[in-house]
Amino acid sequence: MSTLFTKDGTITKHDAETGEWFHNSAGAYLEAVKNYIEPLNLGFWKPDRLSVLDACFGLGYNSLALIEHLCKRENRRIELDLICIDKNREHLASLPEVLDQSCFASIYNRSELAVFFESLSRSKDKSASTKYDIGHIELNLTFEVEDIRVALPRMISRNCQLDLVFHDPFSAQKIPSLWTFEIFALYHSLLKAKKGKLLTYSTASGVRGGLESAGFSVFRTVPVGTKIGGTIAACQIDAALQKSIDEQLVMNLDKEEIENMKGRKGVPYRDPEFNLERNEIIRRRQIEQNGRFPLKKPL
Ligand SMILES: C[S@@+](CC[C@H](N)C(=O)[O-])C[C@H]1O[C@@H](n2cnc3c(N)ncnc32)[C@H](O)[C@@H]1O
Repeated sequence: MSTLFTKDGTITKHDAETGEWFHNSAGAYLEAVKNYIEPLNLGFWKPDRLSVLDACFGLGYNSLALIEHLCKRENRRIELDLICIDKNREHLASLPEVLDQSCFASIYNRSELAVFFESLSRSKDKSASTKYDIGHIELNLTFEVEDIRVALPRMISRNCQLDLVFHDPFSAQKIPSLWTFEIFALYHSLLKAKKGKLLTYSTASGVRGGLESAGFSVFRTVPVGTKIGGTIAACQIDAALQKSIDEQLVMNLDKEEIENMKGRKGVPYRDPEFNLERNEIIRRRQIEQNGRFPLKKPL
């Protein structure tokens, strides 16, 4: 798997199966901070405990940027329950290299984290858990080597309750099965009703339409590189989200984005039994689009 340096100097990987890079070329670390951490306004939120699902962990930038942010910017004791899921374990072999970068220098015992991930890359275990004290952060870390379509129903049956979901698969065009209404409905059930939030880099109208249909309020985050910004989806607009909107870390969707989300382009991907192939999900969506929003024939 080829490695590339992004413009902020941090490394990313290329996925041969989808032909996509793991991150925006503007910066792997930059993308994690702008799309997943800053919109949360954790300095205002000040949680004592956070329960976070990192879905599609890959090289782990989103989780690591959260830990780094809490190490550097916060000085209150915080308990962080971090559940990381990825169907592939091979990327974990790169975690020592990722963690060794200067952007993660404030995670002072990062070498212990690197050992945890690297040993899981060589193990046959489907999951592993550990606890670390990283300064004032009490980290309860679980990694599951699993397809998120299998892991999420299991989390529902265990009555998991989350504050945050970082949703970071390859694009909806390439893997629509990970961007369906049904996945978003499971996230909505797993997230706490008042403060729960989902963050993703995607701005696709079909993704936003799926999130809205699943009960989320949908907002845009700030641009990274040439991209127009990601998406934050909230169960409710709480004080921290309102503060982020006031500070323009998070924006209301504009008129065109709302029209797209509620119109033909916003028809969600669907996979009710979590068993459909890519082409079938796309075919069924086109049928629903044509049924609900028929294209006007030229006169
Ligand atoms: C865009 S990369 C994730 C980037 C990552 N968040 C990071 O910071 O490096 C997408 C990841 O999704 C994983 N993936 C693909 N299909 C999956 C599935 N069905 N369930 C769980 N993970 C999946 C891939 O192994 C890959 O690591």
